[in-house]
Amino acid sequence: MVRATVLLWACALVLVSASVVAQDLGANWGAIASHPLDPKKVVNMFKDNGIKKVKLFDADSNILNALAGTDIEVMIGIPNLHLADLAEKYSTAQAWVKENITAHLGKGGVNIKYVAVGNEPLLASYNGTYTNSTLPAMKNILKALNEAGVGKDIKVSTPLNGDVYMTPTYKPSDGIFRGDIADLMGQICEFLKENDAPFIINIYPFFNLYQNPGFPKEYAFFDHSNSSDFDDDGVKYHNVFDANIDTLVAALKTAKTPDLPIIVGEVGWPTDGNVYATKQNAQRFYNGLLKKMASNEGTPLRPKQYPVVYMFAWLDEDFKSIDPGMFERHWGIFSFDGQPKFPMDLSGKGQNKSLVGAKDVPYLEKQWCVHNKDAQNQTDLAITVEWACNNTDCTTLVPGASCSGMGLDMNASVAFNMYYQMQDQAKAACDFQGLAKLVTQNPSNGTCEFPIMIKKFQATSGTSGSSNSSDSVASSPSPSQLLFHIVVGICIVWFA
Ligand SMILES: *[C@@H]1O[C@H](CO)[C@@H](O)[C@H](O)[C@H]1NC(C)=O
Ligand SMILES: *[C@@H]1O[C@H](CO)[C@@H](O)[C@H](O)[C@H]1NC(C)=O
Ligand SMILES: *[C@@H]1O[C@H](CO)[C@@H](O)[C@H](O)[C@H]1NC(C)=O
Ligand SMILES: *[C@@H]1O[C@H](CO)[C@@H](O)[C@H](O)[C@H]1NC(C)=O
Ligand SMILES: *[C@@H]1O[C@H](CO)[C@@H](O)[C@H](O)[C@H]1NC(C)=O
Ligand SMILES: *[C@@H]1O[C@H](CO)[C@@H](O)[C@H](O)[C@H]1NC(C)=O
Ligand SMILES: *[C@@H]1O[C@H](CO)[C@@H](O)[C@H](O)[C@H]1NC(C)=O
Ligand SMILES: *[C@@H]1O[C@H](CO)[C@@H](O)[C@H](O)[C@H]1NC(C)=O
Ligand SMILES: *[C@@H]1O[C@H](CO)[C@@H](O)[C@H](O)[C@H]1NC(C)=O
Ligand SMILES: *[C@@H]1O[C@H](CO)[C@@H](O)[C@H](O)[C@H]1NC(C)=O
Repeated sequence: MVRATVLLWACALVLVSASVVAQDLGANWGAIASHPLDPKKVVNMFKDNGIKKVKLFDADSNILNALAGTDIEVMIGIPNLHLADLAEKYSTAQAWVKENITAHLGKGGVNIKYVAVGNEPLLASYNGTYTNSTLPAMKNILKALNEAGVGKDIKVSTPLNGDVYMTPTYKPSDGIFRGDIADLMGQICEFLKENDAPFIINIYPFFNLYQNPGFPKEYAFFDHSNSSDFDDDGVKYHNVFDANIDTLVAALKTAKTPDLPIIVGEVGWPTDGNVYATKQNAQRFYNGLLKKMASNEGTPLRPKQYPVVYMFAWLDEDFKSIDPGMFERHWGIFSFDGQPKFPMDLSGKGQNKSLVGAKDVPYLEKQWCVHNKDAQNQTDLAITVEWACNNTDCTTLVPGASCSGMGLDMNASVAFNMYYQMQDQAKAACDFQGLAKLVTQNPSNGTCEFPIMIKKFQATSGTSGSSNSSDSVASSPSPSQLLFHIVVGICIVWFA
């Protein structure tokens, strides 16, 4: 009997700690991809992995239709380019809410919890483009939600980058909002407080490491406790993520809204395209983060209340702009085709577990396009590879990336294959003046993988999924989406 009780206790504990992470863990779902997965398959992946929160960057109706009828909590984003209109014209906000919120509510509808107005609109590198419109747009959206009778259930916020705050002394406890937007941040915080909405912040330890050559690598992760780590008047910080959150907590105090709940809208680690962007580092980062969440220690300034965290990102997106860096197309914890990249235990127990990948993925033929070493005239190889790279995704070739340092022959095979696959394996796309040939044996070697493309997802319009009208094909990204996620580093200046 005693033994049975103890066992029950143990089970209850396990269940509780597992669900703590699952409840507090969300995922960002973007689809700036040449061949996005069928949204229904992606939703099944969320279910199979116990993910209950999803953040979107716009209100794509195919994606929302796939989420309809599930209990997944959804945060819908509004792209920055709509902010000015939404701020100036209330009717625009009304129309947006009608088409993108109200239409998806009701029985069997979408469980919408948040509207994220803009995406990092106050980024310093935007030079103030959206400073005038962000808060008025938030207010108009809330007004329209209230008018529709859903303003209490659906919270309005705006995801901001860590560069909206800073600390002049390098101590988190001295955190303040950035000087040029301090007044505005005060007003935004007040608005959030009045309406019971969270402060949403995007935090990227990867960028600390990528942008600052002197940054101590260990401090980007969660798994070490070096007593000489950053000391804030006796409080020790062992990772930059916690220091970052507490800098925000301190800044919220100066804005007289010390208790605003914080949600981390984006955090993650890319797996390719840079020397720090490896699967090993990503696995280490998430492993530490998830354990930290499961421990429920919180941070020094907010003990026992770790924020809800949305991983960036669920899937790789091969059409994202590489302006921020070549790693930009490799943020997924899954590859573009929904396959897990590295072991990850979402319960935070650090076990060697695999995530559940997408099922019934509609791959094209098992064939690859590689460099034909037997071609008579190899003179133009280098320039042909350059051309291929200009017209496809060669982010795995740059120094430190998964196919780097393997020579021109491998460069050519990687570039030719990527071009061929992205052209849906069209015969003519594997020629390159005879320099290329098709093979049926997988040319992957070591870390360098040769993907096979999937069939383009063709959306059916309407909620019934049975009509064939062509007005809602989801596969091509709008140019506006390319503006997303130009992330800059976090403004905790590390060394004086
Ligand atoms: C609804 O959202 C979509 C996707 O973000 C956008 O293209 C569309 O303009 C929005 N509708 C209205 C009426 O604003
Ligand atoms: C912001 O200003 C800088 C320097 O003047 C300029 O290089 C950059 O292109 C501007 N960015 C935007 C988004 O206007
Ligand atoms: C924002 O408003 C201020 C004051 O009205 C004005 O000086 C400034 O030009 C505006 N900025 C933009 C980007 O519209
Ligand atoms: C602790 O940090 C110091 C200074 O950064 C470094 O010299 C030392 O090697 C670190 N010790 C461990 C065990 O990581
Ligand atoms: C984790 O599991 C995989 C697959 O079962 C196995 O190949 C790998 O060696 C394991 N890694 C560790 C560190 O145990
Ligand atoms: C090989 O191709 C280059 C460029 O097209 C050409 O200039 C050269 O004459 C060719 N060589 C032979 C042996 O055909
Ligand atoms: C590739 O693109 C660069 C930059 O646009 C251009 O300068 C170069 O000529 C292109 N190379 C080829 C072979 O098309
Ligand atoms: C392979 O491609 C990468 C990226 O374009 C380049 O840096 C490298 O020099 C190339 N290697 C050879 C041998 O051409
Ligand atoms: C894989 O790469 C190694 C080192 O570059 C090379 O020696 C080996 O031949 C390659 N294997 C295949 C199957 O291409
Ligand atoms: C939709 O189009 C596909 C391919 O054109 C066809 O096979 C299918 O029967 C159509 N479905 C309906 C409901 O019309």
